[in-house]
Amino acid sequence: MCGIVGYTGVQGASPILLEGLKKLEYRGYDSAGIAVINDGVINIAKVTGRIANLCEKTNDGADYPGVTGIGHTRWATHGAPTDTNAHPHLSNDGRFAIVHNGIIENYLSLHDELTSKGYHFESETDTEVIVHLLEMYYKGDIKKAIIKTIARLQGSYALGVLCVDEPGKLYVAREASPLILGVGVGENFFASDVTALVSYTRNAIYLDDGEIAEITPDAINVFDCAMQTISKKITRIVWDIQSAEKGGYDHFMLKEIMEQPRAFKATIAPRIKDNEIVLDETDLSERYLKSINKIVITACGSAYYAGCAAKYTIEKLCRVPVICELASELRYSDPLIDNHTLLIVLSQSGETADTIAAMKECKSRGAKTIAIVNVVGSTIAKLADHALYTWAGPEIAVATTKGYTTQLAVLYLFALYMSKKLGRIEEERYLQLLSSLKSLPKKIQDTIDTNSKIHKIAIKYYDNRSMFFIGRNSDYAVALEGALKMKEISYIHAESYAAGELKHGTIALIEEHRPVVALCYNESVMEKTLSNIVEVKARGAEVLALTYKGNSQIVSQANDVIFVPKSETLFSAVLEIVPLQLLAYYVAKLNGCDIDKPKNLAKSVTVE
Ligand code: AGP
Repeated sequence: MCGIVGYTGVQGASPILLEGLKKLEYRGYDSAGIAVINDGVINIAKVTGRIANLCEKTNDGADYPGVTGIGHTRWATHGAPTDTNAHPHLSNDGRFAIVHNGIIENYLSLHDELTSKGYHFESETDTEVIVHLLEMYYKGDIKKAIIKTIARLQGSYALGVLCVDEPGKLYVAREASPLILGVGVGENFFASDVTALVSYTRNAIYLDDGEIAEITPDAINVFDCAMQTISKKITRIVWDIQSAEKGGYDHFMLKEIMEQPRAFKATIAPRIKDNEIVLDETDLSERYLKSINKIVITACGSAYYAGCAAKYTIEKLCRVPVICELASELRYSDPLIDNHTLLIVLSQSGETADTIAAMKECKSRGAKTIAIVNVVGSTIAKLADHALYTWAGPEIAVATTKGYTTQLAVLYLFALYMSKKLGRIEEERYLQLLSSLKSLPKKIQDTIDTNSKIHKIAIKYYDNRSMFFIGRNSDYAVALEGALKMKEISYIHAESYAAGELKHGTIALIEEHRPVVALCYNESVMEKTLSNIVEVKARGAEVLALTYKGNSQIVSQANDVIFVPKSETLFSAVLEIVPLQLLAYYVAKLNGCDIDKPKNLAKSVTVE
């Protein structure tokens, strides 16, 4: 996600803005910029790449004098990382500059309306619609213009506004995106998170959704859309910088697990309009989709396991063969790929070497390619015929969590989209599944709320040297990812196994107290998995079962049971995986592992 900062006071704004942006670098970004008012003019400096480039361009701010300004680090969602797409964005009349963190879901219709009214767009971003709306609604009262503007926005925003007509003032507005005000002496601040504030003040005002604030060097006035003043308390920030970067969590991994409901919603919401799935980024016509005879999903690690989970959903809904291929294998397998193959490439980073190589190999054989990636403008995104972004925001921890679940979000959307295009789903069933998909962010949150129980279970299992994760069908796919999470952050040898395969050799490894995590969500194979639980228990295993709330039959069979909300089995992987992410996290924490940076691992494997 992006980062925003603002300052108004008696000091030079630019150096303070630059320092604030440096404190937001940990969030991940691809471009940055500042805007400062001086002598009735807004001066803007924007760069792609690091903050250091911005410092160089502005001579550490010295070339951009003024005591009121705003700044931004951009994590691209709409529009590649370029100077033009970087924030701040300026109105055509030069009167307003804005910075924004969030996603404007209805930006396309606003863009068309504003263009038709003669407003000129510089960038490809969703954000720019905001500054032109401000210009359109401004009749001398900036508060009214802001209120009218935000009334037109659908989506999320933490918004910072400069206006040349009010040189010492900043305006901010918040909806579903964090925005904190820093209270100084003779100076005031705003930022996306406290890390950008604590060097200057530890007195903070946390804005809530629907709130707007007018900020001067000596006062902060918070009000709502009816212009009613809202009294806000000042909170003392006690976090140090490092814990502030993690939002108060001990590790980025835990923070990113907790972000999954928001990330999942941010990924699906802009693509569902009036019960229609809109994959704007692709031109997958009915004719083309009917021409493909198979879908190949290729990726590495967790991204590959996301593909394995989605395979069941796509095949069930579209009745098209889906073959999941490890990229490191596919690239050397002389693959049977042609122009009737749709290749779906999954990658959080968009830079994984094996995945890039496999993608190039398949493209050379005629496959059309869709990339599902989290980094706008990444190599895989650029290589693909179409890029469908997971708007999860930057993922810092090496072990992916929100990257995995948002890849599934896009894959589920694609499955429903393709099924409807192929006429292989009844309208009633389509609407039922769409409703189920939209209910997942809340269900993911409910699953996260079982957090304390997982911690207790981790205490029971953390000192084992090996574990098994078993399941059948779609549960087996989740077992693959659950085992990887455990391996890569706790260094416990965790083996995922198709439950039906145990009797063909692996059950020989089951011995007294061996932990076996048994995924039992998929009702179509429930009885079979239950019998596998009996088999391993008979050989001394300690069974931790994971199933949906209300499935009481399993309680008598397992030593411990984790219940997650009932959902469509087609989408259950995003719920089943959350307790396994938390289990791996707490086991690793109890083992004193370096959770965010596990040994021997990199966040993006850019070499073969
Ligand atoms: C997952 O937790 C690991 N970090 C790793 O398996 C990762 O999924 C794999 O390297 C693929 O990375 P990508 O999604 O960035 O391509």
